[in-house]
Amino acid sequence: MKNYDNVVIFDHPLIRHKIAILRDKNTSMKEFRELVEEITTLMTYETLKEGVPTTEIQVETPLEVCTQQVVKDNAIAIVPILRAGLGMVNGIHVLFPSARVGHIGMYRDEETFEPKSYYCKLPEGIEDKLVLVVDPMLATGGSACDAIALLKSRGCKHIKFMAIIGAPEGVSKVAEAHPDVGIYVSTLDRCLNEHAYILPGLGDAGDRLFGTK
Ligand code: PRP
Ligand code: URA
Repeated sequence: MKNYDNVVIFDHPLIRHKIAILRDKNTSMKEFRELVEEITTLMTYETLKEGVPTTEIQVETPLEVCTQQVVKDNAIAIVPILRAGLGMVNGIHVLFPSARVGHIGMYRDEETFEPKSYYCKLPEGIEDKLVLVVDPMLATGGSACDAIALLKSRGCKHIKFMAIIGAPEGVSKVAEAHPDVGIYVSTLDRCLNEHAYILPGLGDAGDRLFGTK
């Protein structure tokens, strides 16, 4: 894959360790859900190294008053792409419990793999927030591209996209379609199979999170 200025692949040993367990077909639904949350928290720490709206406050320590930077109130919104993105929300809420959540519903057409949008409900004032769009799987990139385009059409200007596993095709597609959006991927897999599933991947993230198969 080409290098893109707006793409970060974490490849962190702690995250790699957790992804190895996530991939295992024998990992239970409970453990899968917990791992998705933990990985998301680790990813958020890195993703928010830059671009977080902060403000200064005065703090009185036992010794003196000092000026400190804190994250602005209500500055961050989380937007999971349904269904599987839902599994990542708590991993961010652990760090920002008051972050508002918007939902974008998308499913892939089984034959064309094109995303179909079926739901969108966003928090008021989202256009002024840093929006973290989350989906564990970035396969062809169609769902992520359309979700980001929808958010831009609603006025969002500061968007970051987080995926746990990315395929090179999908990462390139989103990076090129949305060069102004930071794309944060924990690990880059080899390719897509003929059903547009990521290889080696982890199978269907939604089914593994919610036990639907
Ligand atoms: C999965 C996944 C992404 C999408 C990725 O969702 O959670 O949203 O596929 O594929 P793409 O990059 O090729 O668009 P799916 O459509 O299976 O819906 P689900 O989460 O409801 O199972
Ligand atoms: N969606 C998934 O859940 N898994 C894939 O490998 C591709 C799309």
